[in-house]
Amino acid sequence: MAEIHDSFDTILILDFGSQYSHLITRRCREHNVYAELMPCTVKIHDLDFKPKGVILSGSPYSVYDKDSPHVDPAVFDLGVPVLGICYGLQEMAWTMNGKVAKCDHREYGFAQIQIVKAEDTGSSAGALFEGLGDEMQVWMSHGDQLTEMPPDFHVIGYTSTAPYAAIAHSAKPFYGIQFHPEVTHSPRGKQVIGQFILQICGSRPNWTMQEFIGKEISRIREICGSSGRVIGAVSGGVDSTVAAKLMHEAIGDRFHAIMVDNGVLRLNEAAQVDEMLNKNLGVNLTVVDASSLFLQRLEGVEDPEKKRKIIGNTFINVFEEEATKIEDVKDGKGRVEWLLQGTLYPDVIESISFKGPSATIKTHHNVGGLLKDMKLKLIEPLRELFKDEVRALGRLLSIPAPLVQRHPFPGPGLAIRILGPVTRDQVKILQQADHIYIEEIRKAGLYNEIAQAFAVLLPVRAVGVMGDQRTYEQVVALRAVQSEDFMTADWYVFPAEVLRRISSRITNEVPGINRVTYDISSKPPATVEWL
Ligand code: XMP
Repeated sequence: MAEIHDSFDTILILDFGSQYSHLITRRCREHNVYAELMPCTVKIHDLDFKPKGVILSGSPYSVYDKDSPHVDPAVFDLGVPVLGICYGLQEMAWTMNGKVAKCDHREYGFAQIQIVKAEDTGSSAGALFEGLGDEMQVWMSHGDQLTEMPPDFHVIGYTSTAPYAAIAHSAKPFYGIQFHPEVTHSPRGKQVIGQFILQICGSRPNWTMQEFIGKEISRIREICGSSGRVIGAVSGGVDSTVAAKLMHEAIGDRFHAIMVDNGVLRLNEAAQVDEMLNKNLGVNLTVVDASSLFLQRLEGVEDPEKKRKIIGNTFINVFEEEATKIEDVKDGKGRVEWLLQGTLYPDVIESISFKGPSATIKTHHNVGGLLKDMKLKLIEPLRELFKDEVRALGRLLSIPAPLVQRHPFPGPGLAIRILGPVTRDQVKILQQADHIYIEEIRKAGLYNEIAQAFAVLLPVRAVGVMGDQRTYEQVVALRAVQSEDFMTADWYVFPAEVLRRISSRITNEVPGINRVTYDISSKPPATVEWL
């Protein structure tokens, strides 16, 4: 990682376990400043770079509790600005001998913060809110608050319930804010973060995908040398396509992409990926049709976790066999040494959380298991990027817009959208319904407004009537959600005529379906997928 810090000024975000920590990272990057999240327990002398500034995140803990996490106090001796958000404010104040106590009641929701003008504070520490006027709406979520200021700090903002809602050190660039600037409920929060990282820390706003691309291609060339070969699985999704195209740009045909058709893909997907990656983008791709093997192993299985495991394991078997074939085609130019993985930054964040990976609700399909036996080294060119950054990268790599904007599709594919046993017939029914659904969404110009949309085949039959005939057929549920990060999601409100058209087309055109329902559950308490 050291190379990235040589090229880009870095804001270090120390994570105390807040559900919003990754949003702070995103907001910094939206200002084109590279930001990296690390667990709050990191020791400053272990860092292999010097950040331009540090942000301390929120936390579900209370600073005064016995087992609460604390920052390495050396962070305040780094000589760089520090901003504490929520728990971060309390942690900073507590470390410097301020007092923190429980609020009378937990404060959760909107608040109006009054900004103390810089000239009234008697210092220049008002810089954090410069240009933001006298008051602004902010979002609060805290059960503790600062009750006594640490020495040398003064108030730069207050609300009707929080007298120390924003504080600043009189001589050093240390700031604390009780509200959450990183959430969209604080409309001017992004500006506050910008003020801190750009004006106060003086970070260079050079984190753009244009800059990243050149540096990453050189890095890949350097680590792969002049003969190293790389293999990688592609799925037709944004991440693997962008990663594959980037590898192709860097090392050409020494990168071999493998697409495994597992029999539970969307309609015509394998052929489309072949067309796109191989013919249009020039990537060296092999498509393996393993659908019979997958469907045979899935026969009679209903349990979603079993389906995921079977698909994950079978995928590994097929991929390894195919990779061996590539390795066997030795041409004297070098063997396969590397495995490309499309890991994104949110996966990295999850794995470095100081609390350990968050509770597993569903085991997501992961090709990490490939490494054990194949002894391949891992190459992860997207591991510093958020999804929107991957999309921007994709556009720069000339990947067509419809693919770059594509909704995510789960590794276990339609197997977790068929509630009940997976058979070729069930797959065919769902593929057709899903195809019509997505086609109509695109025609209505709504595709990019929706984070993910798909059809689900329910394991129930319902009575219907067609012509004079009574029918007794299956039911499809349509799901469409809006979401920023899929941790939470809201169901999408379609115009009625779009739903009517979709329903009418599915019941008319897909044999075996006589009823269409629309899923109006948010996450939580539901999840995005049904299984
Ligand atoms: P849930 O259902 O967990 O979905 O709310 C959140 C996001 O994760 C995707 N998802 C998966 N992706 N393998 C994947 O690669 C899986 O097993 C899996 N399960 C859910 C889901 O499509 C949504 O984007």
